[in-house]
Amino acid sequence: MYQTKPVAPERLPAFLRSLPKAELHIHIEGSLEPELIFALAARNGLTLPHASVEDLRQAYAFHDLQSFLDIYYAGASVLLFEQDFYDMARAYLQRAAADNVLHAEIFFDPQTHTARGVSIETVLNGLHRACQDARSDFGISASLILCFLRHLSEDDAFATLEQALPFRDKFIGIGLDSSELGHPPEKFARVFARCRELGFRLVAHAGEEGPPAYIWSALDVLHVERIDHGVQCVQDSALMQRLARERIPLTVCPLSNMKLRVYRQLSQHKLWQLLGAGIFATVNSDDPAYFGGYINDNFVQTFAATGLGAQHGLTLARNSFEASFMDEAEKRACLQRLEQAVEGFE
Ligand code: HPA
Ligand code: ZN
Repeated sequence: MYQTKPVAPERLPAFLRSLPKAELHIHIEGSLEPELIFALAARNGLTLPHASVEDLRQAYAFHDLQSFLDIYYAGASVLLFEQDFYDMARAYLQRAAADNVLHAEIFFDPQTHTARGVSIETVLNGLHRACQDARSDFGISASLILCFLRHLSEDDAFATLEQALPFRDKFIGIGLDSSELGHPPEKFARVFARCRELGFRLVAHAGEEGPPAYIWSALDVLHVERIDHGVQCVQDSALMQRLARERIPLTVCPLSNMKLRVYRQLSQHKLWQLLGAGIFATVNSDDPAYFGGYINDNFVQTFAATGLGAQHGLTLARNSFEASFMDEAEKRACLQRLEQAVEGFE
């Protein structure tokens, strides 16, 4: 069932693009394209520090996670009204559907907006309505994961959780993102314990720039079900064995890793090593408007740079559905569409 026919090397990009897939690591604020930043600024009467779309894009040269985050938070400052959040998420979902994404689990950073006086209700109403409409308009299902910013305090995360709870039917899970180094998972032990009691699905960024110890504590202290990034696990063979044995998904984002200089070149990416060790990896875009590509670009460019083949592509697509928070019937339906697509590929 999960064996592909041989795919000629020149047909590999088309094969990868054709695969139905899920995206499990996408920050919706990181899908905000420069064109939309300018359009929203104009609509909301804001003046940007950059003269043009091209000028803004020129500023997208990062040397680490923090240098990216500074620009990413500045870009998000044009989001003021429910319609702005709706338009951003709708644009992403339409673009993802064009990459044969059947299902997306979307991160959002409420503290980036509440700190500017935008209510969490405004954020969630806009994002959630876009997810609902995308099902009928683009044939893609989507759910939302609220991320706490780890450079802020745990008390701030608790306050954010309180603000969000009246709207808990609009998001399915909790994540942890922003500046990793110096902000280990255990800083958020109590708030994650509360989120777990409340029945949320739990994920956390760990081992992007941070050490393997952060992956261990995300698992053992926060009790997350997936690790976002996690690529630094390759420094710790006991951790790699555990991830493989316990089938803990990693949501890997190769173009992000290259742009934030986790690796100098895509050819140095460890995706092959992860798959070879039996780790439950997936491929995702992270912040596609900033890192130069959506999910299919991540597949195509990484495969070209590292020599991965069609069978790896199929494994990664299958993993994306299996690692998702869809229910078993939804997963089965997606896996069936994957099987049909592979059989039908000419
Ligand atoms: N890492 C941490 N925080 C983030 C990222 C990331 O790659 N993208 C958006 N917020
Ligand atoms: Zn991320």
